[in-house]
Amino acid sequence: MAVEGSRYVDLNRRAEADRALRPVRFDDFVGQDRPCRNLSVALEAARKRNEPLEHLLLSGLPGLGKTTLAHIVAGELGVDLKVTSGPALEKTGDLVGMLTSLKHGDVLFIDEIHRLPRVVEEYLYPAMEDLALDIVIDQGPAARSVRLSLERFTLIGATTREGLLTAPFRARFGLLEKLEPYPTGDLVRILARAAALLGLEIDADALALVASRARGTPRIANRLLRRVRDLAEVRGAPLVTAPIADEALEQLGIDEAGLEETDRKVLRCLHDQGGGPIGLKTIAAAVGESEDTLETVYEPYLIVLGFVRKTPRGRQISARGLRHLGVEADDGGGQSHLF
Ligand SMILES: Nc1ncnc2c1ncn2[C@@H]1O[C@H](COP(=O)(O)OP(=O)(O)O)[C@@H](O)[C@H]1O
Ligand SMILES: [Mg+2]
Repeated sequence: MAVEGSRYVDLNRRAEADRALRPVRFDDFVGQDRPCRNLSVALEAARKRNEPLEHLLLSGLPGLGKTTLAHIVAGELGVDLKVTSGPALEKTGDLVGMLTSLKHGDVLFIDEIHRLPRVVEEYLYPAMEDLALDIVIDQGPAARSVRLSLERFTLIGATTREGLLTAPFRARFGLLEKLEPYPTGDLVRILARAAALLGLEIDADALALVASRARGTPRIANRLLRRVRDLAEVRGAPLVTAPIADEALEQLGIDEAGLEETDRKVLRCLHDQGGGPIGLKTIAAAVGESEDTLETVYEPYLIVLGFVRKTPRGRQISARGLRHLGVEADDGGGQSHLF
């Protein structure tokens, strides 16, 4: 239980830290030009027709700004946003109270929507399409179903695993937007804004250094920036320079490629198994992370860097991945030896 307790505290702290730096208007939301343009058009059109926005599905890896965008959309529409998540909606009954409390145009935000139980998902279909909800009243022989009608609302779903959504569910969203990892230049802008909000003096080299190690992810960039700030405070440095940023990241075990210890464990595990291909399960057991965490948190960036390849038979380390470990690749046969 102690572990769960501390994870809860961690998540809470993360949520608080996220909120402090979360942009509240499109103007402050950096990058993601295409999704932002599409959403602006949809919002403008909905406003002109005086209609609620169509249901929106936001997908993308953790920390890319899905929750932030959902809040921005509700803010731009000037409506209330109710927040819940897939795992929190265990029974159809959990949805009834939420849906019936929505006023015309309000947004219901369901985070991790791919984790919605199937019965709850199917219960949502008529609500999304016909604004109707069937509820069963009484029990036993007297039980009967009553149809409630709902106000027109907008469902915004967020998911890190779009592929796990069923086709009928996906098809019920009028707007589907995918967020991609940010180029370093965008992360520099995000960090500059965050530094200003934190009242932190930091030079351009230090910003570039932090941005280049943040795995294309604003949440990670902001977290690294806070750790850099800690070190600067301890050192009494009035201005954060690249050497201070470098030292802070080094203490966190983050290398030049932005990899942390778990990433390197994945690479070492692949190397120890003759380079692969080996299955996700084996890697998960070796590094002590869940398969889901490996797939959504660690693996995507290792693939982006070209350190790891996904093959039908499992994961493989590339020559580049081996070089990062300080190991020389043999003639591509997956065999390798230490320097
Ligand atoms: N485009 C962006 N511009 C500025 N900051 C951003 C952007 N996207 C995300 N962030 C920052 O990253 C944090 C995490 O974003 P969040 O919306 O919670 O990600 P997700 O819901 O996709 O996991 C936010 O609190 C915000 O500070
Ligand atoms: Mg989120």
